[in-house]
Amino acid sequence: EIPQLAIKDYPRFQYRGMHLDVGRHFFDVAFVKKYIDYLAYLKYNTFHWHLTDDQGWRIEIKKYPKLTSVGGYRNGTIIGHHPGTGNDGKRTGGFYTQQQIKEVVKYARDRFITVIPEIEMPGHASAAIAAYPQLSCFPNESTKISPKTPWSGSRKGKQVQQTWGVFEDVFCPSEYTFTFLENVLNEVMQLFPSKYIHIGGDECPKESWKRSAFCQKLIKDKNLKDEHGLQSYFIQRIEKYLNSKGRQIIGWDEILEGGLAPNATVMSWRGEQGGIAAAQQSHNVIMTPGKYCYFDHAQTQNKDSLTIGGYLPLDTVYGYNPIPKELNESDSKYILGAQANVWTEYMDNTKKVEYMIFPRMSALSEVLWSPAENRDWNRFSSELTDMHKRYQLWGANYYKGE
Ligand code: ACM
Repeated sequence: EIPQLAIKDYPRFQYRGMHLDVGRHFFDVAFVKKYIDYLAYLKYNTFHWHLTDDQGWRIEIKKYPKLTSVGGYRNGTIIGHHPGTGNDGKRTGGFYTQQQIKEVVKYARDRFITVIPEIEMPGHASAAIAAYPQLSCFPNESTKISPKTPWSGSRKGKQVQQTWGVFEDVFCPSEYTFTFLENVLNEVMQLFPSKYIHIGGDECPKESWKRSAFCQKLIKDKNLKDEHGLQSYFIQRIEKYLNSKGRQIIGWDEILEGGLAPNATVMSWRGEQGGIAAAQQSHNVIMTPGKYCYFDHAQTQNKDSLTIGGYLPLDTVYGYNPIPKELNESDSKYILGAQANVWTEYMDNTKKVEYMIFPRMSALSEVLWSPAENRDWNRFSSELTDMHKRYQLWGANYYKGE
């Protein structure tokens, strides 16, 4: 017998996201499903699947098979922290077939989780360019690799990157590129029913566009101010295409530079400023600032394992308020929620991914679900031992604290 009661419970935010970068290191379908289970257990509702990057293209595109046969693999990976002490010399990579993607999307939907795919543009495009060099403004130039970069195999021609960072060779804003991207996005839209498609937009160096006669003429012809204007033109053109198919774009906060695409949702990562500016322009925002939401940063100041750097302890995540204090009440409604990002340069196996997300993912879950006034660090930290037991039941690795 149980007494009657009423439970009133609902989420504070409509967007409760976890991201996973499968470009830097590839994780198989079994782990992606496990990851989705973790999201479901902790009441997240969105899985942001970062599918393309300089070090690997991970989604089968039937029209462009070389994206995965060439772009899905690299000849080695640097050892240790960037720039690296050597190269492991191991060919590595992988990709998801369209059949596997459908399986993952269904698996997620059965658990009330929406999968948002990210196809990066115009930067972070080395793997795509290695497969189809014409996507570059300089198809005949070899990929620039610093003589100091430990490398495996040939340094000639267009290469899938073996080290981390930001690379100059980006998509050329040519008709060839736009046709390519529309064709890619057509297949992506068939696989992902999500309202949103993430198109990246971050960290696009402008060097290639500056020295390309084609780009300089395009800037003049389109009456653009400069290369930032060209980036804005690029994103707006893709937005227009996706909007015409009934989809909306999400982009990293660099899409504010040179003018925001009219219907874009902004993912604020370089702090909260991009999110604040976008909300004040009446654009939807997902908060994912490095200081609170980058789960690739270290959890402890004891150097327990190799990470990209930074320091993001559990109580900082728990104390996060996704509504920036700079926003008034009416602009605050544009903050759809928040998301933790899991960039995997320094996570080459699934146990490491789990170690980096737990228990911080539990802390962010409460931030996203519970009313702000119910947050209580003493209660949360006293419940951590129970949470550890759950991680053990799930068979998950986790950071156990000092
Ligand atoms: C990012 O961390 N480059 C979005």
